[in-house]
Amino acid sequence: MTASVNMPEPARDALNIFPIVINDEIQYASTLGVAWASGRVNLIGEHTDYNDGYVLPIAIDRVVVFAGRARSDGIVRLWSTHFQAYAQFSLEGLPETFEQQSHILPAWARYILGVIAELTRAGAVLRGFDAVVHGDVPVGGGMSSSAAIEVATAQACMLFSNGRFTIRAEGATLTPLEVAALCQRAEHIASGVRSGILDQAASCLGRPGQAILLDCRSLEYRYLPFDAPGLSLLVIDTGVRRELANSAYNERRRQCEEAAQMFHDIIVQQDQAGHTIHALRDVTREQFARYGSQLPDLLRRRAGYVIAEDARVLSAAKLLEEGLIEQVGPLLWQSHAGLRDEYEVSSVELDTLVEIARQVPGMLGARMMGGGFGGCTINLVHNEAIEALSQAVDREYPARTGLQASIDICRAGSGPGNAWSG
Ligand code: GLA
Repeated sequence: MTASVNMPEPARDALNIFPIVINDEIQYASTLGVAWASGRVNLIGEHTDYNDGYVLPIAIDRVVVFAGRARSDGIVRLWSTHFQAYAQFSLEGLPETFEQQSHILPAWARYILGVIAELTRAGAVLRGFDAVVHGDVPVGGGMSSSAAIEVATAQACMLFSNGRFTIRAEGATLTPLEVAALCQRAEHIASGVRSGILDQAASCLGRPGQAILLDCRSLEYRYLPFDAPGLSLLVIDTGVRRELANSAYNERRRQCEEAAQMFHDIIVQQDQAGHTIHALRDVTREQFARYGSQLPDLLRRRAGYVIAEDARVLSAAKLLEEGLIEQVGPLLWQSHAGLRDEYEVSSVELDTLVEIARQVPGMLGARMMGGGFGGCTINLVHNEAIEALSQAVDREYPARTGLQASIDICRAGSGPGNAWSG
C-alpha cells in the first residue's frame, strides 16, 4: 500500500473486508481505493444554523469509510459492515429516479443515493462502484454519522470517477463548503429533515486541534485553537433514539421562521430597521427585549433561546481565541438550560446526564448536543475528572432511567480524504 500514510485505521480494515464481502468476476480487475470523512461534535451553537446564525463545531477523529473500486457500468453496490446488509442502485436517470430508487433502499443507503443524485443534478459525470461502507462513528449516536457518510460518498465519487469529477463547465472542483451544501441537500431529500449546514460543514472543514467558527449565513469560517492537554471532550450517549425527532425538528424550524417574520413586521412599523430582519440572526438582543413581548409566548421563548445561543457562540469563540477553553464551560450549562426550557428539545434522559455531570467536581460544562429528544450530551471536563464522571454515569444513569449510557472521548480530527491502496 503506497498511499496509506494518512489513512485512518478503519480505512485499512475496510480494505481487508472488501474482498471478503464483494466477490465477482471483475474482482481485482481495478485498483482498490478508500475515501473517508469525519463525524462531528458541536461545542456550542445548537439550532442556530438554520437561523442564519453561528456554530462552533469540531470534526472528530472518527470516520465513515468507503473501500472499493470503480465499475465499468452505472451500478453502485454496497455492503454496510454496521448493518451487515447489501444495497444496490443505479446511476441511470438520476436525479429524477431518486424517489423511485430510494424507497426500496435501507435508510443508510438513501444518504449515499441522495449525494449521488445531487452530484448528478449539479452536472457531475460519475461511474458506478462497489464498496464496503465501514467506520467508527457511532451510528445514530449524535456524532452525525449521516453527514460523515454523505461527505465520504462525495469523496468516494471523486476517487472512483478517476478525476472525471468535474461539475462545472470550466472544470473547477468543488470547494469544501460547496460539497457541504450539496451533502446538506442530500440529507434533505434522503431524510425529509430540513437540517442546517452544521454537520456537513464540520465534516468537510475538520482540522486536528481546531474548532471551526462558521457563520451559517455568509459561510465564512475561521479556525480557532482547541487544544488543551489537560482537558477532554466526552460524548455521552443516552441510548435513546426518538422517531419523532424529525417532525419536531421541522416544527422548530417553522416556528423560528414565523418568529423572524413577526419581528420583521413589528419592527418595520416602528422604523426602517425592520427591513433588515430576514432570520432570527438579525434580531438584536435589544430588539428582543423591546419587542419580544408582542410575540406569542411559545415563539418568544424559541426566539429568545436562538438569539441568546448565537451570542454564546461568539463569546465561546472569543474565549478559544484567548486560550481560555475552561471558561467555555458555563456557556455549555446555559446552552443546555435554554434548549431544555425555551427551545424544548431536550429529554428526561439528556437532562439526567447533564444533572449527573453537574455534580462531578472537575466538570467544566455539559449540554445536550445536536437536534435533541435523544442522542447524546457533550461534556467539557478536566482529565482528572473523567473517571469520576464515568463512575457517576454508570452508577446513577441506569438507576434513574433504566437505560445504559455509553461514553466516548473525542479529539479534533481531520477533514475528508481519499487514496488508492496501491
Ligand atoms: C441536527 C442538524 C443540524 C443542526 C443540529 C442542531 O444535527 O442536522 O443542521 O441544526 O441538529 O444544532
